[in-house]
Amino acid sequence: GYGVPSSLSAKVTGSFAYLTIRDRMPTILTKAIDTIHRNKNKFFEEHGEEGISAEKQAISLLSKLRNELQTDKPLLELMDGLSDTESWNQYMQRQQRQLGDQELVSWFKSPWLYVECYMYRRIQEAIWLNPPINNFDVFNEGKTQSFFESQQAVMALCTYLGDVQKSMEKLSENQLSEHFNKLLQVSLWGNKCDLSISAGQENSQKASPIDSLPSLQSFILVNDSNMVWLTLTSSRRPEGSGQKTADRVDIVLDNAGFELVTDLVLADFLVSSGLVRHIHFHGKCFPWFVSDVTANDFQWTIRQTMAANHKWMSKSGYQWQSYLNEGIWSYHDHPFWTQPHEFCDMAADAPDLYATLQEANLVLFKGDLNYRKLTGDRAWGHTVDFCTALRGFEPAPLCSLRTLKANVQVGLQPGQGEKLSTQDPSWMTNGKYAVIQFHGPKLE
Ligand code: F6P
Ligand code: MG
Repeated sequence: GYGVPSSLSAKVTGSFAYLTIRDRMPTILTKAIDTIHRNKNKFFEEHGEEGISAEKQAISLLSKLRNELQTDKPLLELMDGLSDTESWNQYMQRQQRQLGDQELVSWFKSPWLYVECYMYRRIQEAIWLNPPINNFDVFNEGKTQSFFESQQAVMALCTYLGDVQKSMEKLSENQLSEHFNKLLQVSLWGNKCDLSISAGQENSQKASPIDSLPSLQSFILVNDSNMVWLTLTSSRRPEGSGQKTADRVDIVLDNAGFELVTDLVLADFLVSSGLVRHIHFHGKCFPWFVSDVTANDFQWTIRQTMAANHKWMSKSGYQWQSYLNEGIWSYHDHPFWTQPHEFCDMAADAPDLYATLQEANLVLFKGDLNYRKLTGDRAWGHTVDFCTALRGFEPAPLCSLRTLKANVQVGLQPGQGEKLSTQDPSWMTNGKYAVIQFHGPKLE
């Protein structure tokens, strides 16, 4: 419509979208192929002939996919007959109508967000079409490795949480909000993955993720954490009315590994402090964008945390499992999270999910891809209001916790983007910067 900027796409040669589609996406496919091949003995041969031919067949479908991408072929309809197949094919027709009948929807001509999502759905198709391996997660190794590499940081974080919980009763409102801010920021920087914040790095200090926060402060370009705090505390009804707690916070998860642990720690704090009664986690139905959390990753992470040979870490793991058993926490997935839609389409295209989010007092969106979907992955000016870019997506007060890894950023001060562009030309994509960006009723 009028006034809505165009989608980022590889049409702009040399853009980050272009480089991602040209270089990074084929590399991801190559790694997936390699993973299947390397696991031949472990997962496939146990199924005999059938397993061996499934392995060959999946690899051949993925190689074909890589070739289509690299030669900018038209996108193909899905053929696996899963429950979301029809809506993917309809979405493709929608894209085709927008493009007109002069040319076909293809990898380098379509919106980057769409083709990138489409690639992950085609990987799923290649696996799914090949029983007996159709629940194989080509990205599993990377996710578990990322978890194990960040053990030191996880231990430090669980110890911090344990300390806070010991003194919880005695904390003033101010102290509570300080702990909240720290854990919100740890969850924010968790999205950087465990590169600099976790002890996964060679940095010998093995610093706690909490201790690294002050030095990262100046890289937070928008910090609305005060609004997030007010949203949580104002949902607490006045004394005497019985309800003192925000009923529900939803966390739309991003990556497994260290980031997921930071989200679980934040969620534990929200519940154990009495700020929030229930947490709904939203994850992906199938492996997505390499490291995103699936139901399997979620359960695995909690089991590993329980099993850790570290007092505070295993304590946390047991606590999390009991939140789940008691229904204080719950894990949900919905096909919409693994579709290519901008979130402004959610009310029309996934009304049940939109209605679910409307029940929350606050929705936290983790990570870069969620930010791209919140803003439609469009070429907005940097000073455009976050609210404008959301285009009516406001199921509940919401906050994006995101480190910047794609060319879209709204809600900056006049001149802020220009200044960053001179100081650090790749500020939007190098993962060094972050935002805590809120939209909802302004409270005081
Ligand atoms: O680095 C680019 C990218 O692959 C983007 O395509 C995507 O938005 C992002 O990484 C995924 O990051 P996150 O896990 O934070 O959503
Ligand atoms: Mg991700």
